[in-house]
Amino acid sequence: MLSKRDNDLITHVGPGTPMGELMRRYWLPGLLSSELPEPDCAPVRLRLLGEDLVAFRTTSGAVGVLDTYCPHRNANLFWGRNEEEGLRCVYHGWKFNVDGACVDMPNEPPRSRFAEKIQQTSYPAVDRGGFIWVYMGPPEKQPQIPNFEWLDVPETHRNVHKRVQDCNWLQNLEGEVDSSHAPFLHGSVGPDGMQPYNANADRQPVFQVLDVDFGVAIAARREAGPEEYYWRITPFMLPFYTIVPRARETNYIWTAAVPIDDLTMFGMTVIWSPDHPVPPNPVVDVDANFRAKQNKANDYLIDRELQKTSSFTGIRGVRVQDMAVQEDQRGPLSERSREHLGASDLGVIATRRMLLKQLKALQKGQEPTQPHRPDVYHLRSLALNAPRAVEWQELMREHMLLAHQR
Ligand code: FES
Ligand SMILES: [Fe+2]
Repeated sequence: MLSKRDNDLITHVGPGTPMGELMRRYWLPGLLSSELPEPDCAPVRLRLLGEDLVAFRTTSGAVGVLDTYCPHRNANLFWGRNEEEGLRCVYHGWKFNVDGACVDMPNEPPRSRFAEKIQQTSYPAVDRGGFIWVYMGPPEKQPQIPNFEWLDVPETHRNVHKRVQDCNWLQNLEGEVDSSHAPFLHGSVGPDGMQPYNANADRQPVFQVLDVDFGVAIAARREAGPEEYYWRITPFMLPFYTIVPRARETNYIWTAAVPIDDLTMFGMTVIWSPDHPVPPNPVVDVDANFRAKQNKANDYLIDRELQKTSSFTGIRGVRVQDMAVQEDQRGPLSERSREHLGASDLGVIATRRMLLKQLKALQKGQEPTQPHRPDVYHLRSLALNAPRAVEWQELMREHMLLAHQR
């Protein structure tokens, strides 16, 4: 559980909040590159960390991200004309470039120097790996994009996906680091009860955690015969990334819980392989606004008959099963003071502890190191059987960390 105070501290991300300040030290993947498909295309609404923004791609291909409300009289620049290296407000024609400078003010006298005094809030944006990344922090602290492995694989070797989730970002992150839910929430049932998950029938994993350069390594150990253990190791990478261990398949799944505001988030995923093409995978079936077709309003299309006969939840789709539980944990922003955490919640506890430690350090003026160490993000996750004598830290070095990090 968390005190009411710590729960507020760790979940709220608006301007001026401690967690919001920590998030503003990192690049945030906020849009798919495909949402801005070509120069001078239609601008796109974007809300991140409780701020209403507009994103556009200029004539020369650069991406601009501006406060969406025009500094003249607050019209929404989303209606704007994207033309000749800038976005022009449709109300009175003021025009802004990617740096937020007012480059034209056609309704003022020709000799007026008023435009020079106008500066719209603008944030740096970069198009990489299928996402538009946005940096909303202090300009002098601008970091590098984390060196995720999938950023540099051929486009055919990765699938990027985006969905909107109606809950606080931490509820999603906590689900990703919680390896103990998988055999239940994502499990199946047969005539003799629950079926083994990933060919493993042990439903009481022993958890161990370790604070590391990128955040926290969370290991879940399950019994796998007399000689071996089945290990699943999930990295939690600051501030909201994970890589889900995926048994028996060679594709990795990277996840990001990007806060839109305190009550909604973007769930970004990348399924990638370092060495072979990855076929299209919809992850969740979404509409043009990235909203899931199975959603809270239609009870995620739960099938109670299916729940009796073959599926633990009766809800189709692994990611939709996650959404069903995450979007309502006593509401979209969980009251963690009312929880009862057990031994299987160790990964969740370690993740919260790391985030609280970082945000409290920043409150005292101590900057996080991770944004400026992109190579600590060069890693994978792990799910494998190993002889009992092998330490999991050894498995992590061998199979998770990529060459230069070991
Ligand atoms: S409100 Fe935008 S130009 Fe007037
Ligand atoms: Fe899950």
